[in-house]
Amino acid sequence: MRTPLIVGNWKMNKTASEAAVFVREFLQRYTAPPSADVVVAPPFTALETVRTLLGPSSWIGLGAQNLHWESQGAFTGEVSGPMLRDLGCSFVIVGHSERRLLFGDKDADVQKKVRAALTQRLRPILCVGESLAEREADLTESIITDQLSAALDRLSAQDLATVTIAYEPVWAIGTGRAATTEQAVTVHRSIRTFLAKGWSQDAADATRILYGGSVTPQNAASLLEADGIDGALVGGACLKTDSFATIIAAARNTSPH
Ligand code: PGA
Repeated sequence: MRTPLIVGNWKMNKTASEAAVFVREFLQRYTAPPSADVVVAPPFTALETVRTLLGPSSWIGLGAQNLHWESQGAFTGEVSGPMLRDLGCSFVIVGHSERRLLFGDKDADVQKKVRAALTQRLRPILCVGESLAEREADLTESIITDQLSAALDRLSAQDLATVTIAYEPVWAIGTGRAATTEQAVTVHRSIRTFLAKGWSQDAADATRILYGGSVTPQNAASLLEADGIDGALVGGACLKTDSFATIIAAARNTSPH
């Protein structure tokens, strides 16, 4: 069984003070942890605040939204893996399409970031996904295969075991137009086949593959109950405690295939 994982990607939203309000309100909703694993990925500037409020042994994991592949040096404006670890992060989102499209992250950069994360014992949440033009040109599978091949190039099975993959079709992100369950399931299946061929069926079965792109309290259950969808990477709907909690509640244990 793969435990479902719900990740809240705050993007460039919430000051540290607003983050504190959110976390307090969110924690009040729970007297016991939910059955899904939960990670929040606030902006860098709110990591310390969120970490402090969650406390040292929280059921909520802390993630960052990006990292630089070098550990330190003359890279103005960048944040490194050791800095994130030191702030209590255990996850980091890598290769988000906004990074790829707006900030020029190339497949080769994504590969270096995945490796840097693994070196720092940060668990990468690797985002892959096609644009609308690529989907319409029937290139979805080949684009995703290229992204995965680059990012996961020559990773050991042991390293792969710490990677989560998020299928995020670019056309579904922030548009209110989520992929249909069928579209997501098809791509998730091809990702799992890719992993089985490159590593092993066991490795493929153990890897969590999330769906992201306009996940809402309304569509979460049908997406999350589908075969092979092991959780969600949530943007807009993670910014309010009630909608994020509803999505978390929609996640149940999924079977290995
Ligand atoms: P969205 O963003 O839920 O707002 O579409 C998802 C993401 O970009 O991770």
